[in-house]
Amino acid sequence: MAMAPSSVNKQSSRTDESQSSEIELLSCPVCYEPLMRKGPPGLILQAICRSSFDCKKCYKSYSSEHNYLDLTVTAGLKKYVEVKPVGTELFRRSFMSFIYEKGYRQYFRRYGFPGPDEEFKMAQDYFKSTEGGVLVDVSCGSGLFAIRFAKSGTYSGVVALDFSENMLLQCYDYLMRDPTNFLATDLVLVRADVSRLPFTSCSVDAVHAGAALHCWPSPSNAVAEITRVLRSGGIFVGTTFLRSSPSSTSWIFKPLNERVLPSGNYFREEEIEDLCTSCGLTNYSSKVDQSFIIFSAQKP
Ligand SMILES: C[S@@+](CC[C@H](N)C(=O)[O-])C[C@H]1O[C@@H](n2cnc3c(N)ncnc32)[C@H](O)[C@@H]1O
Repeated sequence: MAMAPSSVNKQSSRTDESQSSEIELLSCPVCYEPLMRKGPPGLILQAICRSSFDCKKCYKSYSSEHNYLDLTVTAGLKKYVEVKPVGTELFRRSFMSFIYEKGYRQYFRRYGFPGPDEEFKMAQDYFKSTEGGVLVDVSCGSGLFAIRFAKSGTYSGVVALDFSENMLLQCYDYLMRDPTNFLATDLVLVRADVSRLPFTSCSVDAVHAGAALHCWPSPSNAVAEITRVLRSGGIFVGTTFLRSSPSSTSWIFKPLNERVLPSGNYFREEEIEDLCTSCGLTNYSSKVDQSFIIFSAQKP
């Protein structure tokens, strides 16, 4: 039986009960034990930035630098450097985070993406049953959906999560410039790898992943992780580019996204459904327009 949305309290003056919900939400990326928090409560950016988080099992500590909480396995490492595949590394560059909403994202319209406002509405329709719960915008980029989700007031908390430090910094910059003093609302910025989500199992009501599946190093590990963190009845909504037809095999005829990210994971629709089903998600549904697909699946 599907469970009710998670109980992160909507009030800004959080109770002890809501604090413990939040402690149970964030987990250590190494062992998945819930993190112990020292600092002001609340899934609010300023409160998270003033808190430190400890794992009592592996004695690791995590804290915020540059206004996002780094919950990657490599957080705080001084010597070890790991280079991820191009779909991840490309977006860590500062020029990508700078141009992303200033032209790059607009180009997606050529391939059937209806644009952020319409994509947001479509996602909100799929997320109806999760209203009042916690939403994680995985691979949020510069926050064009996370900010809309948080501003909608539909959720008790929104986590904007990305692996790219520069995308998170850009997101913070957009928040700072928001005339509605938006920083005080229920939105936090977390750096993490989609294949190692820093949330306890069955703690999240809704996961959104806009235009991201094709960038992930391992979509199967990512969807498995998303399934693990969703509560029973929780919803996963994603958008991506479908693979172009084999007739356009020459590089010059390939869509821009496939030329920029030639090693990206572009799938046919039945592959995406197969992936969701193999991770145990049900009630798959989708809408397709040219190369654009928005799909939804539910944790039973
Ligand atoms: C094309 S952008 C999508 C941004 C936004 N969600 C949108 O709809 O426009 C893809 C995002 O995936 C992120 N990404 C790539 N690899 C990732 C990983 N391993 N874990 C988390 N995010 C990742 C990138 O940093 C980038 O911000």
